[in-house]
Amino acid sequence: MSNTTPSARVQTDGFQIEIVDDLAQICRTAAGDILRMAGRTEMAAKPFTIALSGGSTPRGLHALLASDPAVRDRLPWQRLHFFWGDERHVPPDHPQSNYRMADDTLLSIAPVPAQNIHRVPAEEPDAAEAAQKYEQELRAFFKLEAAQLPRFDCILLGMGSDGHTASLFPATEALHETKRLVAANWVEKFKTYRITLTVPVLNRADLVIFLVSGTEKAEALKEVLQGDYRPERFPAQLIRPGPEKLLWIVDRDAASCLTD
Ligand code: 6PG
Repeated sequence: MSNTTPSARVQTDGFQIEIVDDLAQICRTAAGDILRMAGRTEMAAKPFTIALSGGSTPRGLHALLASDPAVRDRLPWQRLHFFWGDERHVPPDHPQSNYRMADDTLLSIAPVPAQNIHRVPAEEPDAAEAAQKYEQELRAFFKLEAAQLPRFDCILLGMGSDGHTASLFPATEALHETKRLVAANWVEKFKTYRITLTVPVLNRADLVIFLVSGTEKAEALKEVLQGDYRPERFPAQLIRPGPEKLLWIVDRDAASCLTD
């Protein structure tokens, strides 16, 4: 896996950020972080839990994880457990399914044991039932007591040009969910439900990595990272697991509105 221009990772009081050349470099950088985390010796005997994001940005990262020998041959696949940060309310073979995107680009290529794939049962006709079933799967896998939250080792997130992340869209109900682990969130602009991890779960992760690429995200990124705190309008602002646990890997186009 070759690197291009080395970039600096800056720690601010709320997050870490690394601005890289382009989407390909975003993917290489994120792959390096995942490799470092999953390969930590103290992880050696434990499952490594990673929640994937949807959309198109992660495709290149998935390809690196699944096919670049410098990455693929060093990942402890038997211990990697894959979850999703959110899912569309569609069956797993639907073109819009986040599971299908991950299956096409990663899970059907890499040596992932079937039992290590924990997809959202989004084929369930009732979105709330799908969310409930996914929540039960999380509770069982993480062996949670009633009020406990799961702690993912890594949660990958994208950000929309409207400042949404996972399926936490502006002015939607799930932004305020503090009890459930998983919510069925009605998204008016799409006239559909989405199933999403809730803010408390996202903020409990050991590391949240945002992957953001492209000029169409620049305005929203500026607002999220440097604007007033308006989470109803820019839900990505709700993701605050702690300064050492939040990493933004963005390209120069997405960072073009940021000021020093
Ligand atoms: C989804 C995602 C969503 C995505 C952003 C960015 O289900 O679509 O989880 O939050 O990460 O919309 O999408 P792109 O990577 O396609 O820009």
